[in-house]
Amino acid sequence: MTDTFKKKPGDEPAQPGGLRKSLTSYGDSGFSLFLRKAFIKGAGYTDSALDRPVIGIVNTGSAYNPCHGNAPQLIDAVKRGVMLAGGLPMDFPTISIAESFSQPTSMYLRNLMSIDTEEMIRAQPMDAVVLIGGCDKTVPAQLMGAASAGIPAIQLITGSMLTGAHRGERVGACTDCRRYWGRFRAQEIDEAEVAAVNDRLVASVGTCSVMGTASTMACIAEALGMTVPGGASPPAVTSDRMRIAELTGTQAVRMAHDNLTIDRILTAEAFENAMRVLLAIGGSTNGIVHLTAIAGRMGYDVDLKALDRMGRETPVLVDLKPSGSHYMEDFHRAGGMATLLRELKPLLNLDALTVTGRTLGEEIEAAGPAFEQDVVRAFDQPIYPQGGIAVLEGNLAPGGAIIKQSAADAKLMEHEGRAVVFESGADLAARIDADDLDVTPDDILVLKNIGPKGAPGMPEAGYIPIPRKLAIAGVKDIVRISDGRMSGTAFGTIVLHVTPESAVGGPLAHVRSGDRIRLSVSKREISLLISDEELASRVQASPVTPPSAQRGYRKLFYDTVTQADKGVDFDFLRATEKRGVTPRK
Ligand code: FES
Repeated sequence: MTDTFKKKPGDEPAQPGGLRKSLTSYGDSGFSLFLRKAFIKGAGYTDSALDRPVIGIVNTGSAYNPCHGNAPQLIDAVKRGVMLAGGLPMDFPTISIAESFSQPTSMYLRNLMSIDTEEMIRAQPMDAVVLIGGCDKTVPAQLMGAASAGIPAIQLITGSMLTGAHRGERVGACTDCRRYWGRFRAQEIDEAEVAAVNDRLVASVGTCSVMGTASTMACIAEALGMTVPGGASPPAVTSDRMRIAELTGTQAVRMAHDNLTIDRILTAEAFENAMRVLLAIGGSTNGIVHLTAIAGRMGYDVDLKALDRMGRETPVLVDLKPSGSHYMEDFHRAGGMATLLRELKPLLNLDALTVTGRTLGEEIEAAGPAFEQDVVRAFDQPIYPQGGIAVLEGNLAPGGAIIKQSAADAKLMEHEGRAVVFESGADLAARIDADDLDVTPDDILVLKNIGPKGAPGMPEAGYIPIPRKLAIAGVKDIVRISDGRMSGTAFGTIVLHVTPESAVGGPLAHVRSGDRIRLSVSKREISLLISDEELASRVQASPVTPPSAQRGYRKLFYDTVTQADKGVDFDFLRATEKRGVTPRK
């Protein structure tokens, strides 16, 4: 027996680690440890095992989350890696969030998952933590929680699903889900075919196979330095993914030994690298909201104007749907993030530290030379000359709005039109397909009350469907504006994240059908073409009362959720100490 039960303060190890961390409060630390060990020994552990560095493994496996359907295999592989490096793996559950199984929307639960993650990391003894996440909100929630908890942390991505085939055509969730559903709505395919393709869109467990939010966050996690090299791209069911999991476990033990805490990884330089990558992959607009929230946990505010300037000099290089034509498994075969980072090298902060203890620049060098492939373009032969996302401003969005220009119709990016207004998601559902809806392809669809507080949870309803009568007439795109988000797998000329949102009285609340609106992506402008006096008189005539709730999580949400420009995090979860602004130039 070692110093296990010593209890005089002078006898404590200088930095209690392993099972001695985070002792339960019984007023006697020696007894706390004695009791803890007695209970865990009920599971058959020896003192020798319990003296090792403890690596927590966040298990987000859930029958409701097929995007994490490989969690059991990943946990086995992480445990192997931990034990090979001399650590003790301890997996534990947290909330798991899957996009299509979360009502009213997964974003409503992201902050709850981040609290769960943070508090369980704090409450339980662990020297480092492996975060297993994949589906859209899980990786941001875990990075937010781990950033606040502050111990060494490493992200393990579950990995993308495989693609399927429908009548000889390659398909994958979820860009093709939307495409086929759009064709069904336009009566181009019948019910039998839409049912048949439903069997083909998701060919295995794993995250969406295009550059949607999950893939975007996987790439961002690697760009932040939070995964082992190559951790973003291997599909969920491949041996590469399992090797990444084993390596992650091994690396977590090293991080515990070196006390490589998350604040040394999530620096201003790392956030800039992540923004470069977000722009260069034509990533999901959700990536901005999540990065803003993660940065906020580390004390950084995101400067949207600086981000837009960064976008003007960062080309889209990754040819994945919805901006391009390939899928995540192709990106992996093309070398994954190493291929992209090599091209982006002149724009990156190469000194940024990663979870390996080496810099991003060193990891790019270690990945070896480039090879011929057709998924990641050369820097001077981009898919799109500027970053995928542009930041808009104007009297309609004083706090900013964004548009995914790489997935928009070039003909609509300079457009003035008549507003056709829907007051809420319910209003939209009731009228969008009505034969008597007064709408033309030149109009601009405006949807209110789907922002952070409006829905609540800022659902991905910004991808307003083309009104049925226009869809049947062959219209494929129309300008759409809302204070909501859209799925990273969606496409179209769609203005999102209008801030402040309509539910708190932003100018969007006062748009009326028939108003003229101007969108100019080249001028980064989104304007309601009425005078300031007219807008002020509408505000006075129709004051907005923000929604509220009496109890529970919904009350916490309404009382504390911030707007999109602060990442839709709860105000009390953001760091109290300010470190600066990102990007810095
Ligand atoms: Fe989980 Fe797309 S639904 S990643």
